[in-house]
Amino acid sequence: MKIEICVGSSCYLKGAPEIVHMTEEELKRNGLNDSVSLSGSFCTGRCNRRGVTVSVDGVVHTDITRENFRDFFASQVLQTTIMERQAVHDKGTDA
Ligand code: FES
Repeated sequence: MKIEICVGSSCYLKGAPEIVHMTEEELKRNGLNDSVSLSGSFCTGRCNRRGVTVSVDGVVHTDITRENFRDFFASQVLQTTIMERQAVHDKGTDA
């Protein structure tokens, strides 16, 4: 999985550094440091949104804030990771 957090000037002012920090902490807390690539991205042209823009495997999510970050992380990162692991497990037991 690849997570890209916009660190353009607008997202930066809307809390991108804090979202980066929260993402790092959640990845560490959930043991995902090795399976998730985290990086910054340039402006994606969605500066008119309320929160920070974050891409997960190329899917762009806007309006990420400190307040909704945990829900976002649970639904877009943890859920997807669990489904991917289940798919790998199922593939391994299909034979
Ligand atoms: S600065 Fe993040 S979308 Fe423009």
